[in-house]
Amino acid sequence: MSGAVRVGFIGAGRIADMHYEGYRNNPKARLLAVCDADAGLASRRAAEWGADRTYDDYRRLLDDPDIDAVEIITPHHLHAEMGIAALDAGKHVSLQKPMAMNVTQADAILAAAERSGKLLRVIENYRFAQQFSRAKKMLDGGEIGEPLSIRLKSLTGNVRHGWEVPPNAQDWRADAKRSGEGSIVFDHGQHIWSLARYFLGDVERAFAFIGRERVQAHHELPPGAFLDNPTMAAWKYRGADRFGSWESVYADDMIIPSHYYPIYVWAEVTGTRGVLWVNNFIGGSNSRPPLEMYRDGETTAFTDLDPDYAASFSLAVRDFADAVLDGRTTEMTGREARETLRFSLAILRSGKEGRAVLIDEITE
Ligand SMILES: NC(=O)c1ccc[n+]([C@@H]2O[C@H](COP(=O)([O-])OP(=O)(O)OC[C@H]3O[C@@H](n4cnc5c(N)ncnc54)[C@H](O)[C@@H]3O)[C@@H](O)[C@H]2O)c1
Repeated sequence: MSGAVRVGFIGAGRIADMHYEGYRNNPKARLLAVCDADAGLASRRAAEWGADRTYDDYRRLLDDPDIDAVEIITPHHLHAEMGIAALDAGKHVSLQKPMAMNVTQADAILAAAERSGKLLRVIENYRFAQQFSRAKKMLDGGEIGEPLSIRLKSLTGNVRHGWEVPPNAQDWRADAKRSGEGSIVFDHGQHIWSLARYFLGDVERAFAFIGRERVQAHHELPPGAFLDNPTMAAWKYRGADRFGSWESVYADDMIIPSHYYPIYVWAEVTGTRGVLWVNNFIGGSNSRPPLEMYRDGETTAFTDLDPDYAASFSLAVRDFADAVLDGRTTEMTGREARETLRFSLAILRSGKEGRAVLIDEITE
């Protein structure tokens, strides 16, 4: 297509802010309409963001012939219904993670993408964060030799040190029917499963210990709710003795300085010749460089990149518009998001059943 891509947001809650970053001053895309079930919120955000049209029913936005593409930024349980409706209405779709609640829904979205011929991608801003994308490029370029393993960690601290989250973003997350099971493994975890696949590929089986922790204060849950934390997960990649692990801890009294969520994410990828460290993402101390590599007795720091959370969204959103204009795909394709979803469901099943679960067991 030619000209700027005209976009509608469906959902104008907490994380929609970050999506707007990619439309501000972007000559290739224009935010034309904002839809939210809360009509007042839709109008306020549209005025703030300079969007001309507002809707409180997403189907009316999909009927708007001037909209080329949509960003679907609503609670998880609405992703499948809205994604399918948008594709069937002939819109290109950027869908938030997790793409769906289960594999059956994911398959229905993929079928809708197939019949429409429109672009479907699931927005995965972590893969656009420059510390992760540079590390991946270095890994693929053989800088640390052949990949051997990956370790990931998420440390969540006290919410007083992060941004404000509206109460309704907590309500739906505390309801398993709308949020799946647990805001750590199925929500934040999607990024972790996605990174694990991004760096080392297809996963064969997974095991997890999933705790149940009563929280005093958490940005996504009402006071006194339980969190699926601490969680410790391990997995084996397909076709080789390569392993990955993720530890997630919630520490009520810990100060994690952040302009966003008070979550500190880091990763370590080991190869036959060296190690890559992504030292901090989202929040946390800036005392270490965003990316470091150890090789041949020396550690090199990489500081010529923008490690900010907002920058990762901006790049991810901009690449959606570019991909629509260029007629290409972008991170993550629907198929890749389906595999990430299966991985998360295998982890959840393992936590429940106390056994290693093959990803191929997850079929519906
Ligand atoms: N990529 C990331 O790092 C990241 C971070 C946070 C959230 N998310 C994802 O974004 C999605 C939204 O999360 P959030 O934290 O912004 O939640 P939120 O509750 O703040 O925002 C959701 C918005 O959707 C609106 N909504 C609900 N039902 C609707 C309907 N039928 N029609 C139109 N609007 C409707 C709500 O009124 C609300 O304003 C979730 O799926 C979550 O996984 C991704």
